[in-house]
Amino acid sequence: MDKPVSPASPSSKTSKKGIFITFEGIEGSGKTTQLDLLYQTLKTKKIPVVKTFEPGGSSHGEKIRDLVIGFSQKKISKLTELFLFLADRTQHVQEIILPTLSKNQIVLCDRFSDSTLTYQGYGRGIDLDLIAKTNLAASFNLVPDLTFFLDLPVLEGLRRVRKRGKLNRMDKETVFFYEKVRKGYLKLAEGEKRIKVLDALQDKKKLQQEIFQQTSKLLSKRFNCSLERLT
Ligand code: TMP
Repeated sequence: MDKPVSPASPSSKTSKKGIFITFEGIEGSGKTTQLDLLYQTLKTKKIPVVKTFEPGGSSHGEKIRDLVIGFSQKKISKLTELFLFLADRTQHVQEIILPTLSKNQIVLCDRFSDSTLTYQGYGRGIDLDLIAKTNLAASFNLVPDLTFFLDLPVLEGLRRVRKRGKLNRMDKETVFFYEKVRKGYLKLAEGEKRIKVLDALQDKKKLQQEIFQQTSKLLSKRFNCSLERLT
């Protein structure tokens, strides 16, 4: 259970032309804000970019999102939860992510397969190898090129979330659950070079700068273009 799990071996990666960047973290880490900032920056620089999210980014996503993390008090079994996230991913990858990547564009995605490994695997205790395999099947072997994991102490994340008001099914999980999820992310990052662990407590602007620099490095490598500075 504690060995680092690789979401995919490099040879199994799906072929694609664009760049796939994901944002990960526990609740309250600020990943959605940072994704939006990067999206705006790339747009300003006229780089073709699409932003999306899981669960819920496809045309069927809203219904699946509501089923799996909505506000209903009804219980869902661990495996049902896993397969709902995977079903959402399959539709999302097929309908939104792959077509965008095949047009040579950048996709910024708020959560992807690492969320399943950390929440359903490390958090709920479902076998990590089962998740790694089904993740790959559900995503047509798609693995992100770059992943930003915004890390912060669980209590701080939950404090931020609870200040926002209405809580969904996942927001109500225990501190113990989120500690396992956070440890899961750190474990994944140990085995995956693409995952950059960032201090989510640092100044928002500095974090934005760091994310921009990492993205810029990848873009210059893959597209042979320089983004210059963040302004
Ligand atoms: P968010 O959209 O506000 O980040 O909330 C999504 C919730 O769903 C969050 O608690 C993490 C959870 N989640 C999983 O448990 N597994 C997954 O595979 C995904 C994509 C999300």
